[in-house]
Amino acid sequence: MDTFAFIIHPIDPKRDVSRKFPFLGRVLNERQIDFFSTFFPPVYISEIEGITSASTGKQVLGWFIAAPYTPRRMLELPERVVYRKIIQTGRLAERLGARILGLGAFTSVIGDAGVTIARSLKIPVTTGDSYTISIAVQAIREAAHLMDIPLRNATAAVVGATGAIGRVCTELLAEDVGRLYLIGRREEALLELREQLSGPGRGELVVSTKMDVLAKAQLILTVTSAIHDVIVPEHLLSGCVICDVARPRDVSAMIAAARDDILVIDGGMVDVPGPVDFNFNFGFPPGKSYACMAETIALALEGRFEDYTLGKHITRERVDEITAIAEKHGFRLSGFRSFEREVSPQQIEAVRQNARKRAWRV
Ligand SMILES: NC(=O)c1ccc[n+]([C@@H]2O[C@H](COP(=O)([O-])OP(=O)(O)OC[C@H]3O[C@@H](n4cnc5c(N)ncnc54)[C@H](OP(=O)(O)O)[C@@H]3O)[C@@H](O)[C@H]2O)c1
Repeated sequence: MDTFAFIIHPIDPKRDVSRKFPFLGRVLNERQIDFFSTFFPPVYISEIEGITSASTGKQVLGWFIAAPYTPRRMLELPERVVYRKIIQTGRLAERLGARILGLGAFTSVIGDAGVTIARSLKIPVTTGDSYTISIAVQAIREAAHLMDIPLRNATAAVVGATGAIGRVCTELLAEDVGRLYLIGRREEALLELREQLSGPGRGELVVSTKMDVLAKAQLILTVTSAIHDVIVPEHLLSGCVICDVARPRDVSAMIAAARDDILVIDGGMVDVPGPVDFNFNFGFPPGKSYACMAETIALALEGRFEDYTLGKHITRERVDEITAIAEKHGFRLSGFRSFEREVSPQQIEAVRQNARKRAWRV
């Protein structure tokens, strides 16, 4: 059977360490987990079984393996030390017999986004970012539809627009909406991106390094690599939708709780074909995965054992190709979740009503 492995790592240190080591998660505090993670070897997490292509019936077998660092630790340590740990984790995948390796969350953000890691391993590597882009954009389009926000006239924003994922999301959304804010920290890089993307068939593109422009956006796709939340309630327009693709999140649960008139959805949840059992709880309901995991699995189902999405410059062609491959095998954008809970139609209706009430009060 063809095989794959996927690297995960703790994002919320206490919660995520507890999922594999309940005792350590209970007795250690966050800083201690961060400190000890430096000396911890890669961890075998679980076998992933039951994945079956909807079109060919092919089955693949996989493994979750963990690089013990948290995002904070990956940013604090020298890049070469972080690479070394991810490469060690990749070698565990090789020993298990994986034919392709996916890099989850921050293991794909660090440094050159997988290029150095791929060079040091015998098996091909993908960050999964191409399918993450595809699903994030599908999610925001679908959410706009549910919230009755007509895309053509909508004002949208991409936060982290100059990032690997943000850049292509910006390119795709620029064709959908009337006005698009490109938000980031480096004005020059934003201006360069606007220059590349401006043209016929695209909405008006506006550059900003300030978050307060979010108050004009009905649709927000946020995908920064910040390790703290970057969006605050005062920034937001009543009735807006935020699709938070970042891990760690860009929108905290506390912020979302403070505004019952906005819809915050998790970006990147996908239905996996077949009676899949991940044998590990990573916070999603049964049968669902992150889009970046789905990219790795779809490549295994397709027999594409090659370096796929690597580096910070992702092309739209790759996004279109992986979308077609994933759809062929039965991967789909899943229903919406918000902070690990399902979003019901009633909740969407409540947000719409709260937004209407707020508009009357103003
Ligand atoms: N949900 C999923 O399935 C999935 C899959 C893969 C990745 N991800 C997540 O997606 C996020 C982005 O990944 P990426 O590969 O696109 O990262 P990236 O290439 O490093 O880009 C990150 C972007 O965030 C911006 N940024 C960083 N810190 C910021 C801050 N404090 N305030 C405002 N902007 C900030 C950066 O701006 P500068 O250009 O100024 O540095 C850059 O534009 C990460 O959180 C990652 O874990 C999610």
